[in-house]
Amino acid sequence: MEKIDKGKGKEHRHRGKFTEGLLDVERILGGLALRPGQTVVDAGCGNGYMSKIFSRQVTPSGKVYALDPDRHFIGVLEAETRGTNIVTIVGDITRPTPIEPSSVDLIYISTVIHCFSKLQMQGFIQEVRRLIKPDGLLAIVEIEKTETPFGPPLNRRFSSEELRTIVPMTPVETIPVAEYFFMHTFAHATPPKVAP
Ligand SMILES: C[S@@+](CC[C@H](N)C(=O)[O-])C[C@H]1O[C@@H](n2cnc3c(N)ncnc32)[C@H](O)[C@@H]1O
Repeated sequence: MEKIDKGKGKEHRHRGKFTEGLLDVERILGGLALRPGQTVVDAGCGNGYMSKIFSRQVTPSGKVYALDPDRHFIGVLEAETRGTNIVTIVGDITRPTPIEPSSVDLIYISTVIHCFSKLQMQGFIQEVRRLIKPDGLLAIVEIEKTETPFGPPLNRRFSSEELRTIVPMTPVETIPVAEYFFMHTFAHATPPKVAP
């Protein structure tokens, strides 16, 4: 397992490049306003460092699903967090998960969607809509679509404008969460009709 390494100035070809230590967690939490008792999905959780932070925010009365297809990451996280409010799942967020419909207050997905195909993106949106409560939030963290010293090829990245055209939800805000990274939040609700 390896974190994204800014220092080396180029991308590593590893499955697991974590954003731990790169992102401004306080800014992220400020944009999410989590409350005790809430339910979070950390989709593509990697080493689960954000799942652990969310776990403290929602307190033991809440729940965090830490989901990743990588059995190794999930196995390590499961051993570290057994007996807490973190539920680990080996799973794929672009397909139906075992999580109950309309049960989730926040779906957080950090530096994952740039690897999705068009079909996977459709599956992801479908699963988000199935899981999220009517007043729930989707938060997407991605690397800016500009030349950066590291990160996926530009043609795989999404700008926040592009995200707004792809995600059929109500855009809330885009905030910078580190040098080169932004978080875009979306609300589930469809916007109210504006009178002509
Ligand atoms: C760059 S890492 C980011 C990990 C973590 N979110 C972070 O910010 O450090 C991308 C993660 O997405 C996971 N992933 C890839 N495809 C996925 C999918 N279809 N559903 C859920 N997670 C996926 C990978 O296994 C990997 O752990």
